[in-house]
Order: sequence, then C-alpha cells, then structure tokens
Amino acid sequence: MTRQVVEEKKQGQALITKQKQGNIKKLFIESYGCQMNMNDSEIVASVLAIEGYDTTNVLEEADLVLINTCSIREKAELTIRKRLQKYNRVKLDSNRKMKIGVLGCMAERLKTKFLEEEKMIDLVVGPDAYRDLPNLLKEVEDGKDAINVILSKDETYGDVSPVRLNSNGVSAFVTITRGCDNMCTFCVVPFTRGRERSRDPQSILKEVHDLWNNDYKEITLLGQNADSYLWYGGGLKKDLKKASEIAQETSIDFAKLLEMVALALPKMRIRFATSNPHDMHVNVLHTIAKYTNICNYIHLPVQSGSTRILKKMNRQHTRKAYIVLIDNIRKIIPNCAISHDLITGFCSETEEDHQETLSLMDYVKYNFGFMFAYSERPGTLAAKKMIDNVPLAIKKRRLTEIINKQMKHSLIRMQESVGKTFEVLIDGTSKKNKNEWKGRNSQNAVVVFPKIGAKKMGDFVNVKITSCTAATLKGIMK
Ligand code: SAH
Ligand code: F3S
Repeated sequence: MTRQVVEEKKQGQALITKQKQGNIKKLFIESYGCQMNMNDSEIVASVLAIEGYDTTNVLEEADLVLINTCSIREKAELTIRKRLQKYNRVKLDSNRKMKIGVLGCMAERLKTKFLEEEKMIDLVVGPDAYRDLPNLLKEVEDGKDAINVILSKDETYGDVSPVRLNSNGVSAFVTITRGCDNMCTFCVVPFTRGRERSRDPQSILKEVHDLWNNDYKEITLLGQNADSYLWYGGGLKKDLKKASEIAQETSIDFAKLLEMVALALPKMRIRFATSNPHDMHVNVLHTIAKYTNICNYIHLPVQSGSTRILKKMNRQHTRKAYIVLIDNIRKIIPNCAISHDLITGFCSETEEDHQETLSLMDYVKYNFGFMFAYSERPGTLAAKKMIDNVPLAIKKRRLTEIINKQMKHSLIRMQESVGKTFEVLIDGTSKKNKNEWKGRNSQNAVVVFPKIGAKKMGDFVNVKITSCTAATLKGIMK
C-alpha cells in the first residue's frame, strides 16, 4: 500500500471515530504483568470499540474501568488489590455510574471470590471470554454482577484486529499462541490461561501486513511458548490424534511460521517471546540465522542451573540439555543476545543448587535477565505437594547474588559492543535528554545517540557505539 493510501485510510478511521462521537463512552484500561496481557487489552479495546467505547487515560472521566491482572507472584496480586482501592475511591467520589471490571489471570484464578471480596467490582472476565464483554456489560447495566471465566480450547481472537494502546507507532505485539500445557510446578499460568492453542497463520500474516501498512516497523510474536507453535487446522496443540492425521508437510511449526512472516515482509523487524528451552529446535536457530529481519535475540528462561531443581519444577530440560542449546545458538547465530528468567529459593533448593545456578550464569554470560524469589501460588503442584521451605531471607540473599552477577555480565556484554556499528530502529526520544534519540539494535540493547539530520521515529539508522553502561549503549549516527 502506498503512503497516500495509508494516509487516506487513517483519515477514514478518524472520520468513523468522529461519527461515533455522539454516543461514545469512555474506557480506562490498565494492564499489569506480561506482554500478552498488554496485547489482550488491545483486543479488549477492539471488542469494546464496536460497542461505542473510546479509550481514555483519565481515570476520573471513565464510564468503564478495566484492569487486566497478573497472578504470577503474590506481589503482583497485592499491587492489583491496591490499584482496585484507588478505583473504588474514584468510583465513590464520582457522581456518574462508573463500572469496574477485572480481566485476566486474577479474574480466572479467583472467579466469584473476587465479587465477594471486592464489593465495588461489577465484572469478572477471564482471558478467553473477552468476546462476551458486550453481553456481560448488558447484565451490568441491568444491575447484576457479571462473570465469565470459561476457558476455551480454540479461542485465539484470530479475527480481532487489536486497537493499539499506548503505542509508539513503531513496535507492536502479535499473539501467535495462547495458554500453556507445560505445567511447571511453580507456575499458575496453565490454570489461568488454559490449554495451549495456536492461531491461524493466515490471520497472523494479515495482522502483520496491516501493521506494516500502518507504518509499524517491528513486531514481537507472542506466546507463553512461542516455539511450540503448531498449526494443523485449529484446536488444542496437544490433540495428538488430530495432529497425526494431518500430514507433517501441511502443518506449520514455529520455524515455518517465522520464515513465512520474514519472507512476507522482508523489511519488518521480527522478534518473538517466549522460548521454552525444550521447545526450541535447531531449525528455528537456522531460520533466525537465515533472515536478516529476524532479530538476533532469544529470551530463554532457564529457572535454575540445577538439574535436581529443574526436575522438581517439572521443566522438560536438564542443565546439560540447556547448555547444548546455548552452544548451538552460539554456533549457528553469531552475535545472538540471550536473556533468561531465574527463580531463587524454589522448594528444597540448597546452597549447592544455588551455586549451580551461579555457575550456569558464568557459562552463558547472559545479556539480560529477569530474576525472582520463589512465590508459592495456590493451586499449583508445588503448593499442593511440596514445602516452601527456603526461608525468605535466604531466597532474597540468593536473589541479590544472581542480580549482582547479572549486572556484571550485562556490563561485559555491553562493553563488547563498544566500537561496533549497529542498525538501530528509532522508537522514541531519550528520557534523559530530549536532544537524543533512543532505539534498539537487533540484540535488543537500548541505544541512545544525538539527534542529527532529518531522522524520525520508525527510521532505521546505523549507530557507532562509543560508550556504555550495564543498561544502555551510547553512540553516534554514521
Ligand atoms: N512462558 C512464560 C513464562 C511466564 S512467567 C512467558 O511467556 O514468559 C514469567 C516468569 O515468571 C517465569 O519464567 C518464571 O521465572 C517466573 N515465575 C513464574 N512463576 C513464579 C513463581 N511462582 N514464583 C516466582 N517466579 C515465578
Ligand atoms: Fe509457566 Fe512453565 Fe508455562 S513457566 S507459562 S507453566 S512454560
């Protein structure tokens, strides 16, 4: 599509919005937790746009307040409870009939309990029930509490075109799988997001094309386990009977999907998350190496460096298998950045296990990491069958140790980039200095550099790195 057509399309959209303005209601939607929650809120905004809702960033003027919640750790839930108190105060102060709804993982986990515990809540909706929002809102209008927390075997919202929220107009998320079948013993996600299913590749391609036509330059393909993507006509991923009835050649796995997207839009930057080590096959690595528009960055949560703990976590990889995968990445994709998720103090973790985590970190020297102290989640296998027996002080001390190690490694990795030149996608102005652009290189490192010449958001520029911190590369445009 030419730029002119894009402009006309945008004007058309503005016109439709204007026409609707007479009856437009205001939606305030806030998201906590993972990237998929951010994308789900965009799907919700799209479902509600058809109902005449326009989004607002001003809580006080909202007719409907929705909070998309996270249950992954106890602390995440406490943050949301606090936020709900704020909404309640605003609702009490406002003369209008503001409605409050809870979406996402906490809605799914607590179900009707939420309505009992939080009297101000009108609406509880789980991650697979967003299409039902218009009906639920009608029930609320009739003065009833409304709830739908039914999990689905095939809902992927494939045909819903997300309304981009808080967007920089450059990068966007595209969901490719939903749910998780892995049942890691510490994790609440399989219970809150249900069984794993993949989205129709044609609807993925359509969404990516639409983004390109609207000037987006970077997409992140999202899934709890993006690498286990498998399309053979819809339905549960692990419905093996159906899968085996379909010839292997006609099904589409993650490597094929990546290739399809990379070929369809050779100038669009492609990222993906999250890769579960046991789902990441070598053909995906070759696909990344083959296409320059697929970024050289892999988020590869390991959780622990000890095989004994990995087994207790029901992770399907061992320390040894993980190291083989790391070695393969290094061999097949030179200059690939790798990041991790790690948990300290899982049930029965000893000092020896912890040392194994530290030594694994030394081996990989990750570019980034996301590190957490174990938080027991009700309903998980670990909560039912294991004892959360590592004292909090020890969990925290171990967490500090891995964070400190990661900071050292991040600095080493950043220092390796000094003197090199990278292609950077400009995605905003530096927060610290309005005379500097910020963007990311293929390896997902943040790069800041002075604004020179007629460059703009969404431009790709070459930047030579001159210095760094553990978190940022600094450079000059070439
Ligand atoms: N595959 C998912 C993982 C979701 S949870 C994805 O899309 O990223 C993100 C991370 O939170 C996990 O990798 C794990 O490191 C951490 N986590 C999950 N459950 C946890 C718990 N009960 N306590 C502490 N950290 C947890
Ligand atoms: Fe959670 Fe393990 Fe799935 S961390 S999201 S159960 S891969």
